[in-house]
Amino acid sequence: MQATDDAARARADAVTERRALLDVARDAADAAAAIIRARAHNARSIPWELKSHSDFVTEVDTAAEGAIRDVIHARMPDAEVIGEELSPAAVARGVTFVVDPLDGTTNFLHGFPVYAVSIGVATDGVLDAGVIIDVPNGERYTAVRGAGAWRNDEPISVSSIADPSRALIGTGFPFKHLAHVDAYQRQFAAVIRTTSGVRRPGAAALDLASVASGAFDGFWELSLAPWDIAAGVLLVREAGGIVTDLEGRDVSGLEHVGLVAGSRVMHEWLLNTIRSA
Ligand code: IPD
Ligand code: CA
Ligand code: CA
Repeated sequence: MQATDDAARARADAVTERRALLDVARDAADAAAAIIRARAHNARSIPWELKSHSDFVTEVDTAAEGAIRDVIHARMPDAEVIGEELSPAAVARGVTFVVDPLDGTTNFLHGFPVYAVSIGVATDGVLDAGVIIDVPNGERYTAVRGAGAWRNDEPISVSSIADPSRALIGTGFPFKHLAHVDAYQRQFAAVIRTTSGVRRPGAAALDLASVASGAFDGFWELSLAPWDIAAGVLLVREAGGIVTDLEGRDVSGLEHVGLVAGSRVMHEWLLNTIRSA
């Protein structure tokens, strides 16, 4: 009995520690969201810089990431930060924050209201907490390993639709990775033939949040970065869903990888559909 009590207490303590990591990530994400929101009204006049094919960065991305780093390092000076714009080559060690300061930059620049801040936190390579702020809608998605996933203060869970013909599937086009276009087109054709709809909103973190909240029954994209997915992978799992790579293998959420996500049933169906396309 004593051993059971001790184990329960240890689990509760671990969740409390993960909630403390979430608090830091949430405050950092809020700081970034405030910067993005303040620039949204004139986003179309913000200058862009090209990083690589169809991949842009602006002073808003870098200012938002700078604010995130400041909040994290003021509270946890030893934490590592892997950030898309300022430290993309950093390597996870100890407590590591994985940061996309503005997911959906192209949408933001065009005034298309689908963009987000995404921060996942891992300890020794295992995701412990995650936050995604849907900036235009003012909604905050959070997850803590072993404790659940929420939109604002409401618990969320993946969809219970099991019939693909009723499913709404999210996806991302391989616009930065044109070598994948032919394979992707075959997959896309197979998915639109058998589902009730496919959507491509343009911010992968929000796509994963939509799977976690049940708005999307499944999601796939062929090439994503750690900052796109770290928070969203934890969110989907804590909402009761499955996330794997395109071969059905587990992912850490800290790697560059293609993803398939959904409820248990829809994940299995989607994985089989795209693998056999
Ligand atoms: C992009 C978005 C997009 C996905 C791309 C990402 P960014 O992130 O998440 O939906 O298709 O692969 O790179 O560049 O806007 O942060
Ligand atoms: Ca991104
Ligand atoms: Ca980004």
